[in-house]
Amino acid sequence: MHDRHALTARIAGLGTCLPDKILTNKDFERMVDTSDEWIVSRTGIRERHVVSEGESVATIAVEAGKRAMADAGVEPEEIELLVLATATVEQPIPATSAIIQPALGIKNATCFDIAAACSGFLYAMHVARQFIITGEVKTAMVIGAETLSRYTDYTDRATCILFGDGAGAAVLQAAPAGEGILRSALHTDGTYADFIQMPGGGSKYPPNVKEHIDARLPFIKMRGNETFKVAVRSITEVCQEVLAGAGVAADKVDLFIPHQANLRIIAAVGERLGLPPEKTYLNLEHVGNTSSASIPLAMREAIDRGVLKRGDLVLLAAFGGGLTWEDRLRLSWPGQPVRGDGERPRGEVPRGAGRVRPRRRRARRVPL
Ligand SMILES: CC(C)(COP(=O)(O)OP(=O)(O)OC[C@H]1O[C@@H](n2cnc3c(N)ncnc32)[C@H](O)[C@@H]1OP(=O)(O)O)[C@@H](O)C(=O)NCCC(=O)NCCS
Repeated sequence: MHDRHALTARIAGLGTCLPDKILTNKDFERMVDTSDEWIVSRTGIRERHVVSEGESVATIAVEAGKRAMADAGVEPEEIELLVLATATVEQPIPATSAIIQPALGIKNATCFDIAAACSGFLYAMHVARQFIITGEVKTAMVIGAETLSRYTDYTDRATCILFGDGAGAAVLQAAPAGEGILRSALHTDGTYADFIQMPGGGSKYPPNVKEHIDARLPFIKMRGNETFKVAVRSITEVCQEVLAGAGVAADKVDLFIPHQANLRIIAAVGERLGLPPEKTYLNLEHVGNTSSASIPLAMREAIDRGVLKRGDLVLLAAFGGGLTWEDRLRLSWPGQPVRGDGERPRGEVPRGAGRVRPRRRRARRVPL
């Protein structure tokens, strides 16, 4: 048994998966009444990846998980816990984490899902870290994976332009306190539950009722303007809480990796925290809002591009449906880059929309 007071968790490896198919703003100009200029100026997003026929949240989660294990140099049998965060489950029963367990070969892992929308990955890390701190497991995997395109209403111009698909996974291992994750905080305020929601598909409006589908209930709906304001306030406050709790001044943070929802939200938070744009990592321009996959996708990219380096002090922050928000301060950045996205397979994106093209990676520090 570990000494619980001397332990934390560190990221031993990171793996991601983005579907090959891309939807650009030009594609949306053909689908709804919008323009590239409007989308870029209001959100900062230019394109997003979406799953194709034959792909699902499980296929991309498995790919990301395998890459994370390879990056960490751990064998599947070493993984004792899988916490998978998703708002777009493979199917209601059983849990998506259980569905993908065989494909990952993690036969010794206890598997469960959590639902915390866009904060899901950081919630999952928090949960897995508790298992590590108590000594119950030594090596855990967390995955944030989403196929939001399957629940996006491609007739609603205010939401459809925002979302993309993707998956990111991390292998967490025990580390001495003072390394790895230094501090984290979780919050929930269910009074905002109707700000971002998918009303249909559950117990209240089951998916097996035609009227619910006709009323477009199993699609993502959002009160964008109100969400925007709450997001800025809640992320700023939780970042301040975590920095104060860790005894770290904002100017000591090497890199801020926020949930990639909207460039203007990120800019407003950075300004309030006093974090300069060059210390904020952005990749939403080419992935859009991928919910629980957002943070690991951005982290992996930042490492591969040499922006995030071993020993850096990193501030991660997310918010999402519920409303949930989470913040985490970490250092200690091990692992080899894992490249290539492999083959993956289906999407409810309108026929003919988007295209598949060879991977072209762009990312930058924020010119906000
Ligand atoms: C969705 C969002 C980009 C909309 O931007 P906004 O500046 O708030 O725009 P509004 O909703 O006030 O709408 C302004 C106008 O633009 C229109 N509009 C909405 N979407 C549009 C689109 N894609 N193209 C063109 N016009 C659009 C609206 O219909 C409205 O028109 P009106 O004034 O004639 O009624 C913005 O609210 C947002 O990003 N919110 C946060 C969303 C988010 O991050 N959610 C995920 C959290 S995890």
